[in-house]
Amino acid sequence: MIGKIIKAIKFKSKYHGLHLQQKVHNTFVSSPKKETYTDSEEYNKIIDHAVERSDINEHLTTIFNAGMASKPKLIVELGVRSGESTFVLEKVAKICDATLVSDDLDPCINPSKWKKSFFVQQDDITFAKDFPDFCTSNNINGKIDLLFIDTSHLYEHTVQEIDSWFPLLSDNFKVIFHDTNLRDVYYRNDGSMGLAWDNDRAVIRAIEEYYNTSFNERKDFTATIDGIQVTHYANCCGLTILEKVN
Ligand SMILES: C[S@@+](CC[C@H](N)C(=O)[O-])C[C@H]1O[C@@H](n2cnc3c(N)ncnc32)[C@H](O)[C@@H]1O
Repeated sequence: MIGKIIKAIKFKSKYHGLHLQQKVHNTFVSSPKKETYTDSEEYNKIIDHAVERSDINEHLTTIFNAGMASKPKLIVELGVRSGESTFVLEKVAKICDATLVSDDLDPCINPSKWKKSFFVQQDDITFAKDFPDFCTSNNINGKIDLLFIDTSHLYEHTVQEIDSWFPLLSDNFKVIFHDTNLRDVYYRNDGSMGLAWDNDRAVIRAIEEYYNTSFNERKDFTATIDGIQVTHYANCCGLTILEKVN
């Protein structure tokens, strides 16, 4: 009992200490720089949105560019929360006239207005089993071109997501994982500091084990493994893109 109380006090003081450290640190960091506008109205909306710091803001334009390059017909988003990734993926879906299927355990706060979008409130492992039937009943070709995974960030669950969803990918797939460099403290490329939690390398470890390799997720890197190109960005909790090299 006493041990538990001491642990709770230590956790609380560490948490408060980190919050203070973050506040002081970010006071000395200038505001995020806006990327230069392009002639794409949709892309410019993402540029505007990406200046609001979050655990994913520095990856929003990367997700858009990677998504567009995959010319998707079917996009699946696992983990929606308040809709940062949905904001980007629905734009890719709209431009590519693709179907966007989003899934979360929790209700959707900001549903996509794109006409070919669906929200499913279900555990994503269960949904993967139902996915072929879901596609048949909604007249969707069930091969996934772009899969975005940003859910529990737990090891066992990520392993299950890979096992359940990878068999549903098309021949020309792209998979984007967020939080592949998740720690108590993370940094953005603009120098600012954010607070998250240490998941013991759960997401990147699950990817490493799937491809029987090892990565240093603390740094940006690209690698090619078994015909799959891996592109990793270490900032902002980490973003890792897997794509089939043809
Ligand atoms: C980090 S948030 C997603 C953030 C979102 N992608 C964004 O950019 O705003 C993680 C989400 O995953 C959802 N989640 C966790 N476990 C899940 C599961 N087993 N199946 C489906 N969703 C899950 C949570 O409810 C939460 O909304």
